[in-house]
Amino acid sequence: MYRSRPSGNLDNRALSYLSSITEDSDLFYYDLLGSQAHVIMLYESNILSKKETVEILKGIDQLLTNSNTLNEYADTYAEDIHEMVESALIKMTTMDIGGKMHTARSRNDQVVLDIRMKLRDDLNRISLNLLDLINSLLAKAEEHIDTIMPLYTHLQQAQLGVFSHYLLSYCFSLLRNFERFSESYKRINISPLGACAIGGSSMNIDRDKVASMLGFSDIVYNSVDATSSRDFLVEFSSNALNTMLDLCRISEDFIIWSTSEFGFVSLDDHFSSSSSAMPQKKNPDPLELIRGKTASTEGNLIAITSILKGLPSGYSRDLQEIKPLLWKTSSTLETSIEMMKEIVSTIHVDQNKMYLASVNSYAVALDIAEQLIKNGGISFRLSHKVIGTIVDYASRLGNVPLSSLTLSDITVALKKIDFSHEVITSEMILNLIKQNTPENSIRFRKTKGSPNKNEQKAMIAHIEKMVIDCKKDLDNRLNKLHLAKDLLDKKIKQLIDEGHNT
Ligand code: ARG
Repeated sequence: MYRSRPSGNLDNRALSYLSSITEDSDLFYYDLLGSQAHVIMLYESNILSKKETVEILKGIDQLLTNSNTLNEYADTYAEDIHEMVESALIKMTTMDIGGKMHTARSRNDQVVLDIRMKLRDDLNRISLNLLDLINSLLAKAEEHIDTIMPLYTHLQQAQLGVFSHYLLSYCFSLLRNFERFSESYKRINISPLGACAIGGSSMNIDRDKVASMLGFSDIVYNSVDATSSRDFLVEFSSNALNTMLDLCRISEDFIIWSTSEFGFVSLDDHFSSSSSAMPQKKNPDPLELIRGKTASTEGNLIAITSILKGLPSGYSRDLQEIKPLLWKTSSTLETSIEMMKEIVSTIHVDQNKMYLASVNSYAVALDIAEQLIKNGGISFRLSHKVIGTIVDYASRLGNVPLSSLTLSDITVALKKIDFSHEVITSEMILNLIKQNTPENSIRFRKTKGSPNKNEQKAMIAHIEKMVIDCKKDLDNRLNKLHLAKDLLDKKIKQLIDEGHNT
């Protein structure tokens, strides 16, 4: 709208086509904070007088306390929130004063400043949510250290495990996502302001000062990089997608396990949908939506990188298209984590169904094959063959459990592969089968990270410690931001008070 070269106003259709006002509502607050710091820096660099600074700060204050003020004062030709705010302040303070606010600044550094400030707040809230979800997985896991269930590969029963083992696996993977977000935070939390349009300014501004007033740990040094690069938000979107993929896999598991055929778990009624037609239905819609929203998050990442792929260096208006995608990714992730947390803490677990599936399962076959190696000194390959043959025999008998095979069943089965061995007899195999109850199957597996009780307890302790460390890091980040905000507020108050007294 500040049209010094083009004549006349922008065509109305062009204006509404160009406008980013809708998606900019999420940036309004950050735009004002950025302007507060910028204006104070201009004052401290002797570019603005105290009177001008105070007038602008008072105007910003008014916009912050009553957002209707914006619509009241802003120019209707504004293309985005930056122009809206500036035009409102000019109207509130006169062109001679408000017109100085944009000194040594461009919308190009301003927009990416606002995005970075919003994103770091989103990231911190998401990180807190992630820790809440991890804590609810931990709490459920502690209840289910002894809840035996089959573990699946290819969705076929693979080995026996316990429900806590499953839940803890997601604590680890969500903690890695927490770490990814924390790692990326340092690349988000740097200030582009002062890079101006692309090549810096001849005004005597202090980029580091604005950065520290806004709680940034540093500046984006190079002005071309500061205005052109969006790698930080690609990283954020990719971390968001990784996290959604975790939630999506949990969702898929719970959806399958809550079918009548499995019946391992059932969602709490408060998190289940019904059918408008079939009275009996209790549907896992929230989980299905997490799955669906994961696809949208993936789409957003692809759309964002596709926009970036076509661009030269320096600001291009295409970049504006990224904002709504990014906001969507961020809010989807935040609400999906919350939803999953509630679902996990309220889910009902049918231990009997899980046990029944385990006791009738061939998922002890690998345990027996390993014990055959230990007892009889044969190769794993041969042992695999022997036990596989016995399982095949049992399944042909009508899927009977291994524990109901008789000595002669085993002898007949082994004849099929002409197996005879002086130590490994049918009796020994039968004995091993009897020994490998579901409980023993789990107890016998001692490797680090396996489902036995000691390992469950060790993993829980390990995760608890990690959660405490993560929370400390997060609190540290939040403290730094609060400290900077308090200092900025104090500075503003002091300037406004001094303005009143002169
Ligand atoms: N509305 C724009 C965006 O969201 C702000 C930057 C516009 N800069 C410009 N030179 N046209 O990206």
